[in-house]
Amino acid sequence: MIVTIDGPAGSGKSTTARRAAFRLGYVYLDTGAMYRAVALAFLRAGAEATSEGATAVLPSTDIDVRYEADGMHVFLNGQDVTDDLRTAEVGGVVSQISTLAPVRTHMVDEQRRIGHEKAEAHGGVVLDGRDTGTVVFPDADVKIFMVADLDERARRRKQEYEEAGQQISLEEVRAEIEERDRRDRNRDIAPLRRAEDAILLDTTDRTIAEQVAFVVDHVKARFPQGT
Ligand code: DC
Repeated sequence: MIVTIDGPAGSGKSTTARRAAFRLGYVYLDTGAMYRAVALAFLRAGAEATSEGATAVLPSTDIDVRYEADGMHVFLNGQDVTDDLRTAEVGGVVSQISTLAPVRTHMVDEQRRIGHEKAEAHGGVVLDGRDTGTVVFPDADVKIFMVADLDERARRRKQEYEEAGQQISLEEVRAEIEERDRRDRNRDIAPLRRAEDAILLDTTDRTIAEQVAFVVDHVKARFPQGT
């Protein structure tokens, strides 16, 4: 069973996908974290978000995903960078870096490999991102497209930053999200868009528990005997 959840920043994808995967006994794959790890590699190398930058950075960049008791961890060249990915610094450059063709090709290959492997071993995988239902797994069993009002998304993302110990104004977060949405939707390769067969889920007025139940119910309805 392959479940994809796509949508703009702050729509609630990650939390919902992680919890739905847990409830279903599936594995959660956060594809945004993989792009963030590549962005961190660019930042550390002081490289520009250009194809020349990609040529310089990618050959020496190894992104690995491992699962530990508390969930998915991302390793950059053998170092666990999970706690360094949700920062404003990475958030500021990741959408530019994720427009680069060599970056996307490499990530999509890895996501397909991990997705198939985990679905086989655990019965299912829940991926979240921007193109998981359109490009990574266009034949996914269940596809969800999550949306929410911009103000609500900015409020959620601000809270996330605060929980990570970063103080940033609502206006700044709002501007960052708006800019990221614009880039994610307008890029040439794999832009953020709803797959025709994706179910729309507006989370503006929904609690996390309701969002999780929505996803779990759709998966169970797809294969009533298997879950
Ligand atoms: O979901 P997130 O905020 O962690 O994603 C970070 C960035 O990664 C986002 O701005 C766009 C990019 N991304 C992507 O291009 N494709 C994906 N499948 C997931 C994320």
